[in-house]
Amino acid sequence: MGCQYFDPCDHGADTFTIAIPKVTFGRGCLAEAGARARALGMTRIAVFTDPFLRDSVYVATVLDSLAQAGLDAAVFDEIAIEADDASVARGADFIATGNFDGVVSVGGGSVMDTAKAAMVYGLYPTGDFLDYFAPPLGAGKTIPGRLLTHLACPTTSGTGSECTSLSVLRINNMSTKFVLGNPLLLPQEALIDPTCCDSLPAMVVASTGFDLLCHALECYTARAYTRWDKVEDPTRRPLIQGANPWSDLAARKALEIVGEYMDRGVNNADDREARDQLMWGASLAGMAFGNTGTHLGHALSYGVTHLMHDITTPGYAVKSPFVPHGISVVVSAPAIFRYTAEAAPDRHFEAAGYLQADLRGAGSEDSGEALAKRIIDLMQKTGVPNGLNGVGFGPADVPALAASTARQVRAIANSPRETNLVDIENIYAAAMSY
Ligand SMILES: [Fe+2]
Repeated sequence: MGCQYFDPCDHGADTFTIAIPKVTFGRGCLAEAGARARALGMTRIAVFTDPFLRDSVYVATVLDSLAQAGLDAAVFDEIAIEADDASVARGADFIATGNFDGVVSVGGGSVMDTAKAAMVYGLYPTGDFLDYFAPPLGAGKTIPGRLLTHLACPTTSGTGSECTSLSVLRINNMSTKFVLGNPLLLPQEALIDPTCCDSLPAMVVASTGFDLLCHALECYTARAYTRWDKVEDPTRRPLIQGANPWSDLAARKALEIVGEYMDRGVNNADDREARDQLMWGASLAGMAFGNTGTHLGHALSYGVTHLMHDITTPGYAVKSPFVPHGISVVVSAPAIFRYTAEAAPDRHFEAAGYLQADLRGAGSEDSGEALAKRIIDLMQKTGVPNGLNGVGFGPADVPALAASTARQVRAIANSPRETNLVDIENIYAAAMSY
């Protein structure tokens, strides 16, 4: 591959960039929203949330806090459960006409991702929605200026979007998701309050937990950042720069948290320690993958999201078809890491160890199998669907799934192992059930 995992202490020539917001983490910190928004210079605020959270104690806490700080706020809640271009268009109108100087988002990844993109399209309208997306999908047009100041408040423990410069959006007329990535999308601050996870249904904790697991695992096993050392314009070093010493640190801790707390956090809603740790792990994984990019786990999930049919998921009040994001990622994960391990066996072995896989008698040549087994173990302990069969797919769906996924060019290029269309078909075929 010509690409290795260097430690900057050993090797001074290669360069990487870290972008993360100011982060406040702790039970009850949502009540700081007003003071923090005021300190950020906000006076009139667009509060983004979704219809399920609109009447929640979390949104009420934020609105009370903003009011107590003497700030003017208006709520936008017309956001689909999977952030899409239609939600963004509505949010963009809200931004364009509201005379706001700040945004506070309160919700999961869909809410935060919609808020980010709504600022882009509300402040800088463009003819084609895909103009600001990277080629080959989009036109790669430059976002002309700054967005509004953004204070992001996550209410689930998975997406990590509060810590990333990315917005993952469903493009409805293409029936699939693509990633809008730009440094301007990074929130200035995040308020991460684990009380938001206290009452989440088990399947939501499982799905978001597997999202966090795959963020961390894909970061830790991504191609190394060293391939971007000769980038011509340093301000354009890609966000998807590959594994680097910073994301290694955050991903490693996130994997340890999943290994220790995933089972407990899903299966015991009263286990606050576990749920608090998963919330912290999700943010760490966001800080990691926002500076690394994901690879095949997320690339293959978008094929699943594109082609899912006639399926619902317990714990989610959504009509069919719906497979939660984290489930769409993890159903292929064991097959993916069996495939990628040979390109970076030591990394896969270390990751398996962080996840508390049984490594007795194993060497790095066994790392793909050990990692896959541990992921399957966690899937079984948390009761998520068993592979692609479990979310309604069969072998006949493989060519269409692979053709859809092949469009995720940047994520596929971030895989440690060269991956072509046939490889993707083989991975899907091996992911039917475990
Ligand atoms: Fe994700």
